[in-house]
Amino acid sequence: MQTSTKQQPIDQIVAEALIVLVFEEKKEQRFGASDLFDSGEISGKALELTLVHHPPGVAAQRVLLAGAGKSEKFDSAELRKLTGAAVRHLQSKSVKTIALVLEDGWATEEYICAAVEGSLLGQFEPDRYKTANDKKTVDSFTVVTATSGADFERAAERGRIIAEAQNFTRGLVNEPANRLTPQKVAEAARQMASENHLECEVLDQAQMQKLGMGALLGVAQGSAEPPALVVIRYRPQKPQGSAHLGLVGKGVTFDTGGISIKPADGMEKMKYDMAGGASMIGAMQALAQLKPSIPVTAFIPSVENMPGSRAQRPGDIVTAMSGKTIEVINTDAEGRLILADALTYARKQGCTHLVDAATLTGAIVVALGHLHVGLFTNDDALRDRVLAAAKSEGERMWPMPLDDDYKDYLKSPFADLPNVGGRWGGAITAAMFLKEFAEETPWVHLDIAGTAWLDDAKPYLAKGPSGVPVRTLVRLATNWKD
Ligand code: BES
Ligand code: ZN
Ligand code: ZN
Repeated sequence: MQTSTKQQPIDQIVAEALIVLVFEEKKEQRFGASDLFDSGEISGKALELTLVHHPPGVAAQRVLLAGAGKSEKFDSAELRKLTGAAVRHLQSKSVKTIALVLEDGWATEEYICAAVEGSLLGQFEPDRYKTANDKKTVDSFTVVTATSGADFERAAERGRIIAEAQNFTRGLVNEPANRLTPQKVAEAARQMASENHLECEVLDQAQMQKLGMGALLGVAQGSAEPPALVVIRYRPQKPQGSAHLGLVGKGVTFDTGGISIKPADGMEKMKYDMAGGASMIGAMQALAQLKPSIPVTAFIPSVENMPGSRAQRPGDIVTAMSGKTIEVINTDAEGRLILADALTYARKQGCTHLVDAATLTGAIVVALGHLHVGLFTNDDALRDRVLAAAKSEGERMWPMPLDDDYKDYLKSPFADLPNVGGRWGGAITAAMFLKEFAEETPWVHLDIAGTAWLDDAKPYLAKGPSGVPVRTLVRLATNWKD
C-alpha cells in the first residue's frame, strides 16, 4: 500500500472512499451526516463507522464517517486506532483508494504520522500461508490537509517506516516454528541488516561455548536445532554523548517447556515466544532509516526449548557467562536463562543502557491482563524515558516493583540462584533473576507475555501478533538526549 500526504480542498479529493472524523459534540452536518445524527443512527462515539455512498458535495465515491468520540479526549493514539479500524473496514469491502481528511487542529505532524501508522497496521493480515487468492488489499492511503506544513511529508514517511517495521515484526512472530528456527531468525536478521546497511553478526554454538554461555546453551541442548546469538549494530555518523543503547530480545522460536513440559492445550501459541527478539529486529530496521544520534545494538539470543534426549533436566546446575551458577529447577523458565547470558554479553560489548523485551511469564498476564506491558527496572531515569516513549506511542506499560527484598524469593541451597522463585510474584521473581545479570548497568525489562499476541482481532488490528513494543523502542532511541 502506498502512503502519502496531499494538500487539497475536501470537495476535490478523488478517492473511492474518504474518511472523515466525526466528533460526538460537533454533530457533523456535511456529507449527509446531519440526517444520520438527527435520526440517532450515529452518535460519533469512538470507532463507530458509517459508510455513505455518493455523498453530496464531494468528488469521492464514498464517505466513511469515522466516530472520533469527544474531541477533548481525542489524541494521536485514538487517531491511530480509528484510522486502522477505518482501513480494515474499507479493505474488507474491496475499496482500493482511500483518503483521510485531517481538518482544523488535527493537521499536525504527530497526527499525520499516527494516521499513516494506523493505516498500515490495520491493513496487516496474518494470512501468508492461506493459498486462496481472494485477498483484498488497499492500494493507496493519502492523508489530505487543507493547509500545508513544512514537515507533513516527513511525518508520513516516519509513520510508514515505523509501521512497516512493526508489521515486519508481526510477520516474523507469526511464522510457525517449523519454518522459523533459530538459524532462520539469524537469516532474517542478516537480510534485514544488509538491506538497511546495518552490521550483523551471528554467534554460533562454538563461539558461545568459548564465551562460557552455559545458561543459554543449557536451554539449547534439548533441541536438534542449533542456537544463534544475533547481534545487529547501528552506529551514527556523529554520535552525541556517551550513551550506547542495548536492546535484548527473547528469541525462543518454540517453547515446549522442555522436560518440565507444558500442557497440550494452547501450546501452538508458543511460536510467539520469540516476539521480544522479533521486536528488536523490527526496531533496528526502523532505526537504520530514522538514524538516531546514539549507537544502538540489538542482541537476540535464539533457541528452541525442546525435551530432546540431550535436554537439560530439573536439578541441573549451569554456569552463566557472568560466572554465576544457576540451579535449573524448571526447564520451562528458559527465557531468563538465555537472557542472562545475552545481558552479560551486551554489557561486555559496552552498552551503557539496556532494555530487554521478553514473553517471559504467564504471571504478568495474571497481574496486568492483556492491556499493559509489565515494566521492571533498576534505574528510575531509564524507566521514565521508556514510559515517556511508550506514552507518546500509545503502547501501555505499567511499572512493577523490584525491591531488593524480593531476593529472598530466589534462593538455592546448591547454586548461586535458582531459575524460579516460589508460588507468588512470578513476574517479579523472573525480573529479579534478570536483575542479577544486568548488575550495575541501567536496565529496563519489559514482560510482553500478555501484550505481544492478540487472542481476538480488534477493529483496528488483526488477531495474532501485535508488534508491541517496536514503536516505544524506536521512540526511545530517536528521542535520546544525554
Ligand atoms: N514463554 C513462557 C511464558 C509465557 C506464558 C508466554 C504464557 C506467553 C504466554 C515462559 O518461558 C514460561 O514458560 N514461563 C513459566 C515460568 C514458570 C515455570 C516459573 C510460566 O510463566 O509459567
Ligand atoms: Zn517456558
Ligand atoms: Zn518461554
